Formats: sequence, structure tokens, C-alpha cells
Amino acid sequence: MRTALTGATQDARSFHKNIAYKPALDRVSGLVDRAEAGKVRIAMREYSRCALSFMGRILPEYARAWKVDYASFRSIEERGRDLPLLKRNDLLHVDAFPTRPVFGDMILRCFTNVNPEQSREWLTSDPFGELAPREAIRAGLARYAEASDSAVGKLRRGMTRTLQRAGVPLVDRSPYDAFMLHFHDWLKGNREYQGNCTKYRFDLPPGSTWLVFTDVVPHAVLGGRLALEQTVIVSRASLANPANAPASILERLAGRTLTA
Ligand SMILES: [Fe+2]
Repeated sequence: MRTALTGATQDARSFHKNIAYKPALDRVSGLVDRAEAGKVRIAMREYSRCALSFMGRILPEYARAWKVDYASFRSIEERGRDLPLLKRNDLLHVDAFPTRPVFGDMILRCFTNVNPEQSREWLTSDPFGELAPREAIRAGLARYAEASDSAVGKLRRGMTRTLQRAGVPLVDRSPYDAFMLHFHDWLKGNREYQGNCTKYRFDLPPGSTWLVFTDVVPHAVLGGRLALEQTVIVSRASLANPANAPASILERLAGRTLTA
């Protein structure tokens, strides 16, 4: 598997930040060299299968209700990578997907460092429950909560759903999804947060695998090359402690439902 992946080439400035694999379609995207796609697809299919089996064994209650999302291959050295601010991996952030709203469910990702020599260097910070009371308020949570109740906000979502049903490729987001997309960008652009927040450093050695709820744990990647990742979307209702989900925390802070 490693041989197929180390040969895969990806343009460092490409629109695609990583090489993606969609398990449901058995298809890869983001490769420069189309000739590599066959080999990479087989390797990523195998990784996706192993990662889902591993996660399912250790988290059977979550596996019963999760939605299998994409897998990805991070082929480019992260240290010194030249990306626009909002795509930078070396700035602390929580994850949100522009094209795949989760409506309050959670993003669980399994990562594996397949580099035979080099560690992957991660930075994390205090989790969402500690981050949100200060930063989510400063980021404008109230504005997003109010917009969801306004006549204009309801009309806009109604039209989006109608057009979506008619086949127009629009994304219907809950207020929670809209806020999380904004919060991802806001954290990356917030120099005070980036500079002053508590930081925990991890060196993930060659061959290691780690699981993270990447919407709960602010994270950044400082260095490393050749990592694989599989995402699942875990139903909030199935969580051991749904009150700790970011959506629950934000709904308590906003005093209203944000995920309808
Ligand atoms: Fe991330």
C-alpha cells in the first residue's frame, strides 16, 4: 500500500488540498497524474476498509448509526506548505465541511502516519467546551442564532431546499453548520487566539494511528508527509455524552436550537 501511495503526485498549489477517496463510489480525486489513480484507489480502498473495521471494533455503539464519509491521503510535506490563510493546516481550527453539513452530528477522523521515517507533528488546544464560551460569542454566535429565526433566514432556507429538490446543486445548512464554517475561518484568522491559547504538542511516530473528533478538538498540523485519514459522521443521539457535542454547547450558549 505504501509503495502505491509514495508514488502518487499532487500539485502543492492545487485546488484540492488532499487526494480524496469516496468509499461509496470507490473513486479518487485530487491527483495530478491520472495514471496513478488506479493504484492509489486500490490502496485507499484498503485503508478505508481497515480504518472503518478498526473504528467499528472499538466504537460499536457509534458504528451502528454513523455515516461513512470520505477518506483522504495527505501526500505533501506540511512544514512550509504555501496555502492561502483559510486552507492552512498549521493554524489551530475546528473542522467543518462546506459541502457536507452535519446538522449537529460529529466529525470523527481516524489518521495513520504511513511515513516510514518521519513523525507527523500535531498541535491541539483546549476542547470546544472550554473554547466556545469566550470565542464562539466573540465570533458572533448570536448573529447566526438570530438569523435562523428571522423571516429572511427562513425564506432563504426554504428556497434553498426547493431548489435542491429540483436538482440545483445548493447546500442546505443548519444555523449550526453555517456558524461552524464561519468559526473555522474566524479561528484561523484570529492572531490573539493563535498566539495565546494553550497548546499541546504531539509527535505521532511512523506507523501510528490516532482518532480525533476534529470538531471538538482544535488542531493544527505543523509537519509531516504521507498520512491517511478516514472520516465518519457520528450521530449526536448515539454519543456517550451528547451534551459535550459542539452543537449542544452552542445551543446552550445561544439559548435555542441551531440544528433544525
Ligand atoms: Fe482540520
